Amino acid sequence: MVKTIYWKDNKVVMLDQSRLPLEVSYIECSNYECVADAISRLLIRGAPAIGIAASMGIAIGGLGISASDTEEFRKKIKPVMYHLLSTRPTAVNIKWAVDRFTKFIEANMDKPVSTLKDMLVQESINVLNEDIEINRAIGQWGAQFINDGDTVLTHCNAGSLATGGYGTATSPMLIAKEQGKKFRVFADETRPVLQGARLTAWELMQAGIDVTLITDNSAGALMKKGMIDLAIVGTDRTTRNGDVANKIGTYSVAVLCKEHNIPFYVAAPLSSIDFNMSSGDQIPIEERAAEEVTTIWGHRVAPEGVKVINMAFDVTPAKYVSAIITQKGAFRPSDLHKIQDEKSDLSSIRIGNK
Ligand code: MRU
Repeated sequence: MVKTIYWKDNKVVMLDQSRLPLEVSYIECSNYECVADAISRLLIRGAPAIGIAASMGIAIGGLGISASDTEEFRKKIKPVMYHLLSTRPTAVNIKWAVDRFTKFIEANMDKPVSTLKDMLVQESINVLNEDIEINRAIGQWGAQFINDGDTVLTHCNAGSLATGGYGTATSPMLIAKEQGKKFRVFADETRPVLQGARLTAWELMQAGIDVTLITDNSAGALMKKGMIDLAIVGTDRTTRNGDVANKIGTYSVAVLCKEHNIPFYVAAPLSSIDFNMSSGDQIPIEERAAEEVTTIWGHRVAPEGVKVINMAFDVTPAKYVSAIITQKGAFRPSDLHKIQDEKSDLSSIRIGNK
């Protein structure tokens, strides 16, 4: 499995996803501005992956700070965090990373600055390693929904490229394959920047999974012909009530699934669940440059000066979601809020088994 992001010799090394699948090349960042720029320009993308990048961005930002005591260090790292937070608003994972590192620094104010800096680096590597474990657990809970002979639809890229490894939506597929199940995957190409065509198709082929690329507008016709058995997608932010923000077009897939009685699953690490937001109406939706729509890989396909709407994400209401698959199990959206409470008996609300 190709590495999406890692830490090496005080640098953040990231696969440049904007060049895939034609070129496999890495960029190296030795300051946080470079990491933030890579996130903004989608060199690294996918909610968990940008959460990891933000964690490493904070760590590398910390290395660049000169401070005589931890109080000064704590003040100086705040602008680093704000800068990373300003890159992409919809995925909650950057905020999750900032909150985690803020608490981590507060818990270690008694350490010398140089020790704290080293600890932040280690903590960012921990975030990466934990993400890989979490994704495998999502796959173990999610594989039950894929049966022999199924065709699974996915949208955008919620694969290993969008995470530390295994992916979220793709992890049940990888585990089902390990279990010897035979199934195929339809990948929506995912306009405007083609994460499905460029990334999901590429990584599933590399993993030896039978994948077929389809245009975004074919899903309905294929469902009508009975050619899709289930859909699994990722999420950038899922709110407490189970509303799901994900790549634009996900909502249409969910509505089509409902119409055709096809289960629609969302794979979500807990870091992508915003328990502080009560509904999807509150999620900030990123709007990106018009050029993403008017051009395809630098080639203009629309008239100069045409007006464009380019919302990067949409929100699927909880009522369309069959289950949310987390590292703690699969749950109905209406039960999601219960998993935050440590005292909840998860076995009574889990759907199915590993
Ligand atoms: O704009 P992107 O490529 O960052 O959008 C990514 C998605 O919408 C993914 O489905 C989501 O982040 C989940 S990734 C496990």
